[in-house]
Formats: sequence, C-alpha cells, structure tokens
Amino acid sequence: MKTLNNYLAIDEDKQWILSQDQLTHLSEGVIETLFSLGNGTLGTRGTSGYESDITQPECEGTYINGSYIRETIEYDESAYGFAQFNNKMMQAFNTKAIEISSENEVFKPHSIGKRHVNLHQASYHEVLQLHSDSGKEIKLHITRFVCQHQQNMMINHYQIEAVNFSGKLQITSSIRGSDSTSQNSNDPRIGNLSMIDKLHCLESLSTPEYAFLLHQLSDPKSLMIAATSHQFEQKNKHIKISSNSKNVLTEQFEVELTDNKVTFSKYSLYLCPQTLTSNNQQQNAPVDEQALITQAREELLCAKNLGYQENLQLHQQLMNDFWQDSDVIIEGHDQHQLAIRLNMLHLTMSAGKDGQRNIAAKGLTGPGYDGHYFWDSEIYIIPYFIYTQPDVAKSLLSYRFNSLAKAKSRATEMGHEQGALFPWRTISGEECSSFFPAGTAQYHINAAIAYAVRQYFKASDDWQFIWDEGAELVIETARLWPSLGHFNKNNSNRFCIDTVTGPDEYTALVNNNYYTNSMAKIHLSFAIELINKLSVNNEIRCNLLLTKLNLSIEELNIWKEIAERMYLPHQAEQNISPQDDSFLDKKPWDFIGTPKDKYPLLLNFHPLVIYRHQVLKQADVILANFLQDDEVDIRLKRNNLAFYEPITTHDSTLSACTHSLAYSETGNHQAAFDYFDDTVLTDLNNLHNNSHYGVHTAAMSGSWMCITQGFAGLRIRDNYASFQPNLPKQWQGLRFKLKLLGCQVELTLSRGQITYQLLSGKQFSLKHYQQDYLLTELEPTLHIAIDED
Ligand code: BGC
Repeated sequence: MKTLNNYLAIDEDKQWILSQDQLTHLSEGVIETLFSLGNGTLGTRGTSGYESDITQPECEGTYINGSYIRETIEYDESAYGFAQFNNKMMQAFNTKAIEISSENEVFKPHSIGKRHVNLHQASYHEVLQLHSDSGKEIKLHITRFVCQHQQNMMINHYQIEAVNFSGKLQITSSIRGSDSTSQNSNDPRIGNLSMIDKLHCLESLSTPEYAFLLHQLSDPKSLMIAATSHQFEQKNKHIKISSNSKNVLTEQFEVELTDNKVTFSKYSLYLCPQTLTSNNQQQNAPVDEQALITQAREELLCAKNLGYQENLQLHQQLMNDFWQDSDVIIEGHDQHQLAIRLNMLHLTMSAGKDGQRNIAAKGLTGPGYDGHYFWDSEIYIIPYFIYTQPDVAKSLLSYRFNSLAKAKSRATEMGHEQGALFPWRTISGEECSSFFPAGTAQYHINAAIAYAVRQYFKASDDWQFIWDEGAELVIETARLWPSLGHFNKNNSNRFCIDTVTGPDEYTALVNNNYYTNSMAKIHLSFAIELINKLSVNNEIRCNLLLTKLNLSIEELNIWKEIAERMYLPHQAEQNISPQDDSFLDKKPWDFIGTPKDKYPLLLNFHPLVIYRHQVLKQADVILANFLQDDEVDIRLKRNNLAFYEPITTHDSTLSACTHSLAYSETGNHQAAFDYFDDTVLTDLNNLHNNSHYGVHTAAMSGSWMCITQGFAGLRIRDNYASFQPNLPKQWQGLRFKLKLLGCQVELTLSRGQITYQLLSGKQFSLKHYQQDYLLTELEPTLHIAIDED
C-alpha cells in the first residue's frame, strides 16, 4: 500500500495550493470566485489587492452573510400572497485595494500579478511587479485572510520591496462603495447586489488611528460600518484625502522605501447588526450609532494590539483544527484531491455559525441568487457538516428555528390554519421567490428541514437540541401536510397532495409529486416517532411541549393515517415510480433535435414549453429513492434510474451528485464515478459556465456525500453506522474521518483493504456489508481485506 499524505499541510504541497497557473482555462471572474475567502459571516471575492486598470476586477464583492437589504418586488400583475419583498445579501464596502505612487507618479503593474490561494491556511497571495513611467520598479507582495478567529475582520498584509529605486512612497488606501455586479440578463440565477443607492452615509472619519464610513439602511432599518486601521512597521505620515463622494474614504500614508522593505497591515472591520429573531419583518432593534462606532474602534484596536503575526497564527490554528477533522485524502488523482479540498474549504468559509445566518447557494463568493438560502442547505449541505463539524450543522438548523415565527405567519398568509411554511428562498426568513410555480410551490422545503433534523439527531444524539428547537421545528413543519392534500375517493382513499412542485423545476404545479409525497410520509412518520421518543425520555417535559404547541392526540392520529395512506405513484407495468400524476402522459422531449447550445433549457425555452414535456432539470424520484434509503426495493431504484437518467438534463448542479449516489447504491460504480467527477469539478472546471457569479455550495457538499455515502456507502442506523465501501478503480487510496454517535472514526481504503479506526469515544458499532463489528478503546482498529474483481 502506498503511504497516504500527512494530514498537516506543507506549504509548497501542490495539493493544497490553488494557483492561477493551474486555472488558465478559466476567466478572471471564475478565478475571483475560486480565490474568495470567508469565515461564515464575512466573505470577499479573490480580487486583486492593487488598484489599476490591469488588475480591475470583473466583479468586486465583500459580503456580510445574514445581513441584507429589502426591496419591494414589482409585479405588473400581482395577486394575493405573492412574495412582496426581495432580500439582497449585504454587499459591503471594498477595503482591499491600495495604490502606490512616488512624486506624483502612480506605479502600474506590468501584467496581472501571480496569485494563489493556500487551501490549508485559507489565505490569498498575490505578487505584483510595479513600475512608474520614469522607470522606477518595485515589487508588491499581498497576503489576505478573513479571520477565522474574529468573525467581523479581514486582514490584508502588504510588503513593498525595492527593485531599482529607493525614496519616498505614497500609499493610497480607501474604503470604497462597490456598485459593480452582474449585467442585465434573463438568467434567473444571476443576482444583482448593487445597493449603494440604498445606503445613506451618516458619518465618516479618518484619523491616524482608524477610519470608518457609517451608513444607514432604511429597510430593514439598521446601520452598517466599514472601518479600517493601518499598522506600519516603518515610520509613516498619515494624510486624509477628501473625496467628492460620500461613499469613498481615502487616506494616504507616506513612507520611506530604503533597502529594507516597507511592510504594513490593513485591518478591515465590518459590522451590520441585524437579527433574525425580531418578529417584525420591517424593523430590527435600533442600534446606537455611537455604540457601533465604539465597537468597531475597539475591535480594530484589539486586533492591532495582537499584531499581524499573532492574528495569522490564531487564524491558522483554527484552520489546522478544521483540516484535522475534515480532510479527505484521495490517492492517485491530483485533480480530485485539489477539488475536494477546495469544496470543503468553501463550505466552511460560507456557513453561518451562530444560528443567525445560513449558507447561501453561492456561499460568500458572488452575487448569484442575491445570496439566498434554499433547501440546498438541508438536503445537500447539512449532511457534510453533521459528520465533520456537527456544531455548524446545529447552527444551520437553529437558523431555521430562529425564523420559525416568520414561517408561521407565512403559513397563515397562505391559508393554512396552523403550522409553518418555510420560504423557498430567503435571507431574513421571509419568502423572496417572485416566481411561485418554481418557488413557493416547492413545499418540500418543509420536509427537507425535518429530514435534516432527523439526520442530525440520529448521528449526534443531541437531546438538548431536540428538546430546545428540533422537535418544534419538526412538529410545526409537519402540521402543514394535512392541509396540502386529502384522502382521495377516486384513488382508493389514499392521501393525495395537489398542486405542488417537486425538486425538478422543469415540471411545475402537479398532483402527487412522488418526491413531495414520499418526503411528507417520512416527515410525518418521523414526527410521530420523535414524539414517542420524547415521551419515553421525559414524559412530563414532552406533555408540556405538546401543550405549548397545542398538539392534540387527534392531530397525531391524522398524521399517522396520512403517513400510512400516503399515495406514492407506481406504474406496475414497468415497475417505475411516475414523477407525478401527469408526467408519463406528457410528450417526450426531443433530445436528438436539441443542439448543445440550447442547454440549459431554462435559458432557451419558455417554462410552459418545458413543463409540457417529459424532461427533467434535476433528480426528483432518484433523490427521493436515495433519501428513502432501505425503505425502497433496490429493483425499483434501478428501474427508476434507467428510466429517468436519459431524460434528465442535469441543468441544475444539484443533479449530478444525486445520480452518483444513486449509482453507487445500485452498484454501477463507473457511472457513480463519472457523476462524481461532474460534481466535484463543478466549480474548479466551471462545468456549468456560471461560476463567475459564485460557487455551487450544494454540489460542493454533494461531492463529499458521493465519497462518504456513495463510494464508502455510509448510512446511519439506530446506534450504529453501516458501510459498503467500494474504492473507485481510478484511485489508489481514500481516507476520511467522521464524527458520529459520540465518536470520531477514520476510514482508510486502499486496494484490497479497509481499516476502520476509532480515534475518540468509548465504542463504535459498525456494519461492514452484512457483518457487525465493534471498535473499542482497547481494540480501536479493524482491518478487513476486500476482494476486488
Ligand atoms: C435548483 C434548485 C436549487 C437552486 C439553488 C436551482 O437551479 O433547481 O433546486 O435550490 O438552484 O441552488
């Protein structure tokens, strides 16, 4: 067996470095996306740290996750219950770029700099050769990181080196409102975060100690401050430059460049206090301007007191801890190794960690989808966090709990007497989808949230969360199903759900979408099972909870009956599951007559044209079958795959990973590998041609699922985990760690052998194919030989 790489990074290790030289096949906008950095609260695109025509970004962006502005959605033909407001993720001010000059001559780069991101350290590096018109040459090194240890802070570090010149330098540094983003387009996925006209400048200040721009937002009423402080290692003189615009604050520093380098750090601090828990959708609790300014100053000075090196170390320590727990090592495929690390890094850099913010479909890397959160979080992303950073999984679920009040009022608005209806897309918790057939109609978001609670609880046994938040989330979301359907006399009194849209957005507003019905069945069964468990765990507390939620035995009995009598479409002749009541009667799509440049279909055909045909944007029944786990016969799963795969366009990046998982489960390992390849490289190779407006976090997490739940066959059962490992023949080895059932275990697959190792925890029960095993503190290691054909 080949030795697997060490977990700890070596700086020069190419499997940790994503450099511009490897990305010559990509446009500048995509590179900016891939080079983005973040910490779950703050994120910034990987744009240059030097201001010039040559280094001009394609799309500038620094974002604050969970903060947003609210805009009225304009409809020419509105109707009752249409979403009224859009949320746009807060695009904060740009503080990254500097400009250097000497005696009124501005230094310009010869070409764009050499750039790379160190994935292990979550840091951005850029080196530029700069020259002036009169032939002075200097070299600029930039290091950037968004602090893992300080959620509101980014640090840019600059080092200027003399090449053929010494003397006085003027360094211009600014806080600048960025108004760039995407062009007008019919592409619904492109977002537009231009919002400078929505921000009203209240105050600006520039002193040698620190500087800031303070803005007010009118909806939601709140404040935003962008503050910076510079720390030079050399003596310098500070000059404030006045500007005509209230949205730009420019400072200048004069330093002497000698044989020694000029070195300085710029600390950037962003605060935009908005909270979810406020029930009033318009207003957040007012924050005192002076208090915010004081907080910004104190946090800046505190970071400055620590200094650059100390901050870097604190940041790196947390990154080390992250990789220690989460790294996935792939032997024998450098591109997959790099891609999976890139994907995991973006997930952790994008996910909110305080229950106040979630994870956007595009992470914190671009304006796509206006920074909205979708069901992607629960079905595709939370699984990754459950097994690597369970606290983050919990916090993403807490975000939903914290927006429960809004989901309840939306349910009332939509005519449901009780329960909660979560929004299809949102930041603040209110519905922001202006196209209800592929938005609000996707009621399966409710089941997704309950499913994620179920998976988290199974893996973590976190009773505290279940008592405090999880149970209420499951119950309030479950309450909606009875009012979405009926026991249908024309269908043997089966429970039928009408006029909803499933995950496949190329079919809308149908009756009995297989996915929705099967997820509702799982949801209701789980709700009943959970209440029974709670009652056994603490009957008095359980009764108090049910009383608080006003949940009666009658209501529970109805849920039970619905779950038992839920109609799941089945076509006996071919033994397949129709996607909905009408799907099989529709005209097949003319795939042969559709040229490649007509994909994605959503950009080339009116929705009605697409809806009339048997054509899928993304996995629907196939996803249901995967989530139904062992409740569905494997022959039915195979038949469904054979039927749906040829008519699925995979125009959504959520589709390929689901197919990889389904093929792994049904034993077609080559197809599983091919679909994994399409998933893991979605952004690294810009496979959907739209990574310039942000990464695809669901596909990123999907690629992790393909490895652990696909190739290794991980399934969580009551009190044990089961595995059916199958190392892809294209790889030499695979290693990863999982946190579950109070333990941490490591799996190492090589050709011919698998090793299960208990790293922490008392004991761990597992099933390897059909055989049961127990890892204990005394016997933590299990080697099993694998027959390879
Ligand atoms: C998909 C949705 C997904 C959204 C955000 C759409 O293209 O069809 O299922 O939630 O993208 O990723």
